[in-house]
Amino acid sequence: MNPVRKEEVPLKIGIPKEIVPGETRVAVIPTMVSVLKRGGHDVLVEAGAGLGAFWPDAAYEEAGATLVKDPAELYGSVDLLFKVQAPRVHPVTQTHEVDMLREGAAYIGFLNPAYNGEAIRKMAARKITGFAMEFVPRISRAQNMDALSSMATLAGYKAVLIGADHIGKIFPLMMTAAGTIPPATVLVLGVGVAGLQAIATAKRLGAKVEAFDPRPAVKEQVESLGAQFVPMEVLEDVETKDGYAKEQPEEFLNRERNVIGERLPRVDVVVTTAQIFGKKAPLLITEEMVQKMPEGGIIVDLAAEQGGNCTLTKPGEMITAHGVSIFGAVNLPATLPVHASLMYSKNVTNLFQHLYKNPEKGLDFEDEITRGACITRDGAIVNEMVKNLVESGGN
Ligand code: NAI
Repeated sequence: MNPVRKEEVPLKIGIPKEIVPGETRVAVIPTMVSVLKRGGHDVLVEAGAGLGAFWPDAAYEEAGATLVKDPAELYGSVDLLFKVQAPRVHPVTQTHEVDMLREGAAYIGFLNPAYNGEAIRKMAARKITGFAMEFVPRISRAQNMDALSSMATLAGYKAVLIGADHIGKIFPLMMTAAGTIPPATVLVLGVGVAGLQAIATAKRLGAKVEAFDPRPAVKEQVESLGAQFVPMEVLEDVETKDGYAKEQPEEFLNRERNVIGERLPRVDVVVTTAQIFGKKAPLLITEEMVQKMPEGGIIVDLAAEQGGNCTLTKPGEMITAHGVSIFGAVNLPATLPVHASLMYSKNVTNLFQHLYKNPEKGLDFEDEITRGACITRDGAIVNEMVKNLVESGGN
């Protein structure tokens, strides 16, 4: 059954308070509530939902939302829930968020399906139509719905600030009466969305920036930002048809580690962002390589949650080994809640408007974006990749 039938319009949309500890973002900010209201929908917001992002309840009320104090009431009465984080057991009701929803309702948010098999199975069992923000295809038509890119941009920016704050040095070249201070050196590994923003931020702060990525197209982008592309022979046919990097063979990774290792004695900050979609992150920095970095240096590993690009990375922790700090960065966007919520809110609202553009006709699963983002519907897991992950039972 399709969750949207003609008689069900306008939709009742719910925006709860996020429940993951340390999560400060909110799925929809008041400005976008106004947009949803103009679309004719009812918007229910849990009291306090926006506080972590500095949006008081009064701003939501002004935008036309109805405030709801009890999360059980909110979840139980909406047609569609907008979330940031994937569903889990609710700390107030002690019930799984999926079980708090009405059977047949819809859910839009990050679903983190590789680590969330239980929630995905529950969604299918309760006939929830589940859309995962991370599965919105990275095509130009869907750019304004691409929350992964929005969050990666912020993470790349913040990673550099953390590095800059940590090394006990300044980034720019400075000629002073006390002598000339050379610029700090920042090495960025993996130049996708996060990597590009890390390069741009480090350049703005005046560092000497070097970067590497196995996709040949990246060299020009790196150089256009004024950074140096680390020279290394790359393989042909490194990209999938969706523009993601393919997994590199061990022979290539060995060569890459040698090339990076040679540069590390001169590098103050390493920001690693290398990932292969749906796979464990490639290992780019071994413990032996960490020993080559100068004392006081730092590695900020954005791939911490995918297994890390450095052997020593511990997700969520700052550790020190051989005089070097290694930060396993987790959820950096939550440290920038104002802009993270603003960007997420636009992405999620744009996706919603695309999915439900003809509510009287129901959802159009012939459409690439709708089909790509949909993980569960009609009681089944409909995304093959997620289905295989969940059925392999690894999560
Ligand atoms: P992306 O897919 O746009 O970029 C990843 C890049 O890694 C690609 O350009 C790819 O070619 C490159 N890569 C693959 N193998 C490599 C190798 N052997 N050596 C060097 N580069 C290689 O991904 P995006 O959106 O930039 O995200 C990057 C990472 O940051 C991901 O792991 C993502 O989960 C993480 N992230 C972390 C956050 C945090 O707070 N910790 C927040 C947002 C993203």
